[in-house]
Amino acid sequence: MATARQDILNRYSNVAVIGAGVIGASWAALFLAHGLHVVVSDPQPDIETKVRDMLDKAALTLKALGLPHEGLDKNLRFEPDLERAVTGVDLVQENGPENPKWKQELWAQIEPALPRHALLLSSSSARPATEQGQQMRDASRLLIGHPFNPPHLIPLVEVVPGDKTSPEAVEDAVAFYEALGKVPRVLKKEIQGFVANRLQRAIMREACYLVQEGVVTVDELDDIVTSSIGLRWAVNGPFSSFHMGGGPKGLESFFQHLGKNMAASFKVIPNVELDAKLQQVIIDQAAASFGKTPIPEMERKRDDSQLAILHALATVPANGKTPS
Ligand SMILES: NC(=O)c1ccc[n+]([C@@H]2O[C@H](COP(=O)([O-])OP(=O)(O)OC[C@H]3O[C@@H](n4cnc5c(N)ncnc54)[C@H](O)[C@@H]3O)[C@@H](O)[C@H]2O)c1
Repeated sequence: MATARQDILNRYSNVAVIGAGVIGASWAALFLAHGLHVVVSDPQPDIETKVRDMLDKAALTLKALGLPHEGLDKNLRFEPDLERAVTGVDLVQENGPENPKWKQELWAQIEPALPRHALLLSSSSARPATEQGQQMRDASRLLIGHPFNPPHLIPLVEVVPGDKTSPEAVEDAVAFYEALGKVPRVLKKEIQGFVANRLQRAIMREACYLVQEGVVTVDELDDIVTSSIGLRWAVNGPFSSFHMGGGPKGLESFFQHLGKNMAASFKVIPNVELDAKLQQVIIDQAAASFGKTPIPEMERKRDDSQLAILHALATVPANGKTPS
């Protein structure tokens, strides 16, 4: 199994990370920890310092995942020229600005310099591959590999093919992300916002509404989530949770008892005005509670807590082995 995984990674030993901000630098850390050679292309003048800082920051998490975490920069280089950066690579992970025109022009610009076998993955949160590849001659190796922040820790990657993506490229992307220890999930259709962010958006809408109406403050709402549905959803998704909550026939009983009310409630969409006034209310309430903690400290606690959850879940026999 370990050999099969290594065989897959060997196919992608040269990777270009285009755009090394929040997401790109985190991907670079994970790729390097798996022994891949990474070339970073990003025009920021201090990009080398920023990426090296990220490698330092990610080291504790990579170590906890059982991955190499020291001397990672021995396989790292920087090349601001995009064509030179992608020459000879096996895979591109694109993490540039979330701007449709920029992404379209990027792929068209680098296409002539790319090896034909290279797998082309975009981290985009919302711009589908069909749109991104419009100016390419051959977009059959281009698809979305949308991570959750930070990609070196959170397992999910949404794999979303475009109209022109070949089935082989989808299989290759899934195999690549699995070999990195990720949990890739392929979407059957392109949809704005993909899946995980659509779910986050629905929850965020209701969260803002509850603050707008003065039902709870932002930190009270966060507490309610982490001590109920957050804990539940680390183990079961909404459907299997309600299957167990429905009674002896699971979802069938659930819909018999609650389906009608739920259907009616779906039709009531509360009016949330996320205008400057509500944004300020949220910012002020956050500043008075968790906002007092510096963000790097919050990030460290978040990563440690999420690692603890992943490790704890891996010890439950049905969930398999410890994450590595
Ligand atoms: N931040 C998140 O939580 C998150 C999560 C998942 C996916 N994404 C997606 O990842 C992508 C990057 O998001 P981010 O949050 O890392 O943004 P970011 O602003 O932190 O990083 C973007 C990087 O692109 C670089 N860049 C600009 N022009 C470039 C060029 N011509 N060539 C190469 N690099 C260039 C910038 O210098 C910057 O470092 C976006 O498509 C976004 O939708 C973001």
